[in-house]
Amino acid sequence: MNPQDAKAAAVGSLREPPGAPRTSDRAQTELELIGVGKEFQSRQGRIEALRDVSLSVGRREFVVLVGRSGCGKTTLLRILAGLVHPSSGEVLAEGRPLWQAGGRRDSDAIGKLGIVFQDAHLFPWYTVEDNIALPLKLRGTGRAERRARAHELCERVGLSGFERSYPRELSGGMRQRVAIARALSYRPGILLMDEPFGALDALTRDKMNLELQEIAAAFDATVVLVTHSIREAVFLADRVVLLSPRPGRIRSVTEVGFPRPRRFDLEAQPRFQEIVRDLRSQLDEEA
Ligand SMILES: Nc1ncnc2c1ncn2[C@@H]1O[C@H](COP(=O)(O)OP(=O)(O)OP(=O)(O)O)[C@@H](O)[C@H]1O
Ligand SMILES: [Mg+2]
Repeated sequence: MNPQDAKAAAVGSLREPPGAPRTSDRAQTELELIGVGKEFQSRQGRIEALRDVSLSVGRREFVVLVGRSGCGKTTLLRILAGLVHPSSGEVLAEGRPLWQAGGRRDSDAIGKLGIVFQDAHLFPWYTVEDNIALPLKLRGTGRAERRARAHELCERVGLSGFERSYPRELSGGMRQRVAIARALSYRPGILLMDEPFGALDALTRDKMNLELQEIAAAFDATVVLVTHSIREAVFLADRVVLLSPRPGRIRSVTEVGFPRPRRFDLEAQPRFQEIVRDLRSQLDEEA
């Protein structure tokens, strides 16, 4: 072997071979909740939204949260994002506490977050292109590169031709796709997504499921996603975390071991259907 090949082989051995299925690294924890509780004070009194939630999200893992409306999924996601301070317990980002006496610590993990909220949260006076490229602008990326990236992302999420439109000119599903493109604009290492596909029609939703799987692999991203669709959860997840309501607690964690990349024919497999059935019956018991 000539020296150059030897060098390439040595480097190669440290990486996954090209085209290898993405594997999550549970040993390398990216975000962790330890005994987290959250209470809100409202006019109706005290609401205990979460109680004693412990969850660790590994590097490149795809975790999906499911549970009935109001069981605390959004609250949990916002706590992971460092947007909400927990009433009890600890949040660790890359092994270190996120909250300190003086407030939130600036951590690398939080710096590389892309968030898709339950509502699109677009700026109405910005075009689609400018909404998508906003995180890049805030990071000082030049205009030409911002535009190129926004166009590429519009294509990815099926919005080509709408780059110059304003949010008010789009449907709800299209606005949500702008929000997804915006979250992806600076290639975040961690994606937190709150029902990102809830407003999409079934066909677009299926397409976005495949697309998201591909994006997560291409960006080597860690993903935590909330959905009401059990089928979507099982299709996308490495682990499905089911929350039970009032107060929100982790009821079960289901390992979904299907190899990647996954295609929709997976859904015809008895094992897939069995997991879906089991999760649905757990949800029914919560009713
Ligand atoms: N800022 C807040 N102030 C007071 N109560 C809140 C606040 N945010 C959430 N809650 C309460 O906490 C509980 C959990 O809310 P959360 O939005 O996390 O639920 P969810 O699982 O995301 O529901 P959905 O599936 O409908 O989106 C609810 O009872 C809600 O009323
Ligand atoms: Mg919610």
